[in-house]
Amino acid sequence: MADLSINFCGIKAPNPFWLASAPPTDKAYNVVRAFEAGWGGVVWKTLGEDPPAVNVSSRYSAHHGKNREVLGFNNIELITDRDLELNLQEITEVKKAWPDRAIVVSLMLPCEEKAWADILPKVEATGADGIELNFGCPHGMPERGMGSAVGQVPDYVEMVTRWCKQHTKLPVIVKLTPNITDIRAPARAAHKGGADAVSLINTINSITHLDLDRMVAFPAVGNASTHGGYCGSAVKPIALNMVAEIARDPQTKGLPISGIGGIGSWRDAAEFIALGAGCVQVCTAAMLHGFRIVEEMKDGLSRWMDEKGYKSLDDFMGKAVPNVTDWKYLDMNYKVIAQISQDDCIKCGRCYVACEDTSHQSIFRTVDAAGSPTYTVNKDECVGCNLCEITCPVQGCITMVPQDTGKPYMNWTQDPRNPRREVKAA
Ligand SMILES: Cc1cc2nc3c(=O)[nH]c(=O)nc-3n(C[C@H](O)[C@H](O)[C@H](O)COP(=O)(O)O)c2cc1C
Ligand code: SF4
Ligand code: SF4
Repeated sequence: MADLSINFCGIKAPNPFWLASAPPTDKAYNVVRAFEAGWGGVVWKTLGEDPPAVNVSSRYSAHHGKNREVLGFNNIELITDRDLELNLQEITEVKKAWPDRAIVVSLMLPCEEKAWADILPKVEATGADGIELNFGCPHGMPERGMGSAVGQVPDYVEMVTRWCKQHTKLPVIVKLTPNITDIRAPARAAHKGGADAVSLINTINSITHLDLDRMVAFPAVGNASTHGGYCGSAVKPIALNMVAEIARDPQTKGLPISGIGGIGSWRDAAEFIALGAGCVQVCTAAMLHGFRIVEEMKDGLSRWMDEKGYKSLDDFMGKAVPNVTDWKYLDMNYKVIAQISQDDCIKCGRCYVACEDTSHQSIFRTVDAAGSPTYTVNKDECVGCNLCEITCPVQGCITMVPQDTGKPYMNWTQDPRNPRREVKAA
């Protein structure tokens, strides 16, 4: 049986599944139930200075799919709205009762060294395993000079990280905002400031939808709204890319990463880990489906690892990173073409419409005497774009088949068609 235990920048946990700082971790009642369900760790809902934040009603909205499945989730909630002392006391109690689980305390304070120097010893006294600096909240707090207002300025990220390293012995995880052009800049700044790890992503600026009668966006607070933070399944691709960017950046190579964003299954987690994450954090999936999703996550991950012969997470951590490269290094001579399984095809014609209207007109449609259509790929014209495979409603009906071109690897920097090529093709 695979060993799921981790040592993430010095923080030990029985498995890599942590709950992210958010409502699931905002009080002892929740955290204890999460630990009972099997979560390996939590990042406690962000603490700040007293008086605690005050929240509005309503505060969440969602981007639904056609069958009302939640594709993306949006919130305008602030940091904890409970007293600092109460949170600290509960953290102390829970850590004492659950010594084998990771408890990381998320913090958000003004950019003043004294504020950080004052709170850090109090957090340390709880017995918590580490701190996470919330430089990511995109709503409300930035208007007060905190959250993503800090995360968007690498100099501030570095400065506050350095203060924290000076004023605590606990591992410092810097949580990054995705609301920035190049995620490597704040990650490098955190690294320079001495961070033990980074975590990402926090939520993305968003407006999910509008009430067109009232002309107000959701979540509505009376007759007005404000942009919120987007998360859930829809943000996973953005998060995966940002994690990979940091993992393959020579300046941050080796910096531990806690992957967050749209994780709802063992497979999502495995993907983050393969792209360099040392643990993962979950919020929306737990909010929508409850704490027990962790059972399937642990089970699935450990079964898949057994199947692959991976004994510990280290065996595949970062294994996909070398395979993420710049476009210019992709093989110009690699070629796939679509192949349709006539046995599986339900003759819906979606692939034909997609290819005919918006791709390379590479699917033949022939109709027999009885009026029944058959769809086949024109191998000479197909460019292997994947569009038909993506459109097809029958999984596995269209496969993309690699072709033997007989040509060696040649990237764009070597391609004779590139007027600015750097090296001659071999
Ligand atoms: C309602 C809500 C409240 C959140 N509050 C916090 C917070 O206090 N501190 C923080 O660092 N992140 C907060 N987050 C962001 C999550 O920790 C996480 O980074 C984000 O939701 C992406 O993960 P997910 O796609 O699994 O939800 C919040 C998210 C939601 C949905
Ligand atoms: S892979 Fe692209 S070009 Fe080829 S048949 Fe499908 S849609 Fe057309
Ligand atoms: S989309 Fe798939 S099922 Fe529909 S016609 Fe094309 S191959 Fe057949």
